[in-house]
Amino acid sequence: MATHKLLLLPGDGIGPEVMAEVKRLIDWLNAQGIAHFETEQGLVGGAAYDASQLSITDATMAQASAADAVIFGAVGGPKWDSVPYDARPEAGLLRLRKELGLFANLRPAVCYPALADASSLKREVVEGLDIMIVRELTGGVYFGEPKTITDLGNGQKRAIDTQVAFDLARKRRNKLTSMEKRNVMKSGVLWNEVVTQVHAREYKDVELEHQLADSGGMNLVKWPKQFDVIVTDNLFGDMLSDIAAMLTGSLGMLPSASLGEVDVKTKKRKSLFEPVHGSAPDIAGRGLANPIAMIASFGMALRYSFDMGALADKVDSAIAAVLANGLRTADIKSEGTTAVSTTQMGEAILKELQALQG
Ligand code: IPM
Ligand code: MN
Repeated sequence: MATHKLLLLPGDGIGPEVMAEVKRLIDWLNAQGIAHFETEQGLVGGAAYDASQLSITDATMAQASAADAVIFGAVGGPKWDSVPYDARPEAGLLRLRKELGLFANLRPAVCYPALADASSLKREVVEGLDIMIVRELTGGVYFGEPKTITDLGNGQKRAIDTQVAFDLARKRRNKLTSMEKRNVMKSGVLWNEVVTQVHAREYKDVELEHQLADSGGMNLVKWPKQFDVIVTDNLFGDMLSDIAAMLTGSLGMLPSASLGEVDVKTKKRKSLFEPVHGSAPDIAGRGLANPIAMIASFGMALRYSFDMGALADKVDSAIAAVLANGLRTADIKSEGTTAVSTTQMGEAILKELQALQG
């Protein structure tokens, strides 16, 4: 059996608590001989700053680069509000994304049937929702790149990002919506051109639609089921994915996968998996955090980095089953359901997984 090397970076706030539930899963998979993961753990964000005055060290970056996948919790918190800008907790995450070349960020927003009433939107608007946002992750205003139409390097990166999104659409409902602001941003004009060209060249069979990102945001809350895959830039993707999270009931539900290019020689790609939610310092250390986004992010690692799609499907089914049984962390609690802690939720998901595994 292949050995897979994981670097766990729990980070700050609720990061360590939700990561503990992924560790529980990893330990079980190893003990059962279902997989063989070798794990290392490191510091990132405020935790790294406290230890080294840096948001991530070169040594941790080297570990991340050598790992088959990085599993990331969350970073940030008021404690580090006044640290130098370059050493702020978020800088560690941005360095990982940039230096590992993780340009494609997949953020699936699925509304589990049991949670259709936990969303702030009406049940009929979100029930059965299953969309995928592909966020460009290493460019745009996040990295202050020149945003001119002559930036060929940037155009090329967009083309790969776009291919990822078209490929995903092909495996789903075959529809891609590209969102930008070509009416005010030159980078939006370039984005639109690249998507249109890639479509004409390689993906004519996929239905392509362009929306301006502002009205795209409106459509996301008006009738989200019109979408299948959405591809958009770094900043719009950050905002639109938080909106999409609320369609599923809670920010605590959304996982993500950040992927680099496939290496032609090794056939492997650099990857990092993280929940979309942040470090939630207000609830940290109290057993209130929802570990589902973190566990589902690990599920995405099984699917996208380790070719264990069947096991990933079981992780998703285990999550759905626990929710159907009425277990809820505080963020998704509703009348008539059972309140559970972070640990209890993690244990319940593992128990369902054991049952599914037989
Ligand atoms: C996210 C987060 C990050 C981002 C922060 C923590 C840097 O909000 O992954 O969505 O803005 O990308
Ligand atoms: Mn965000």
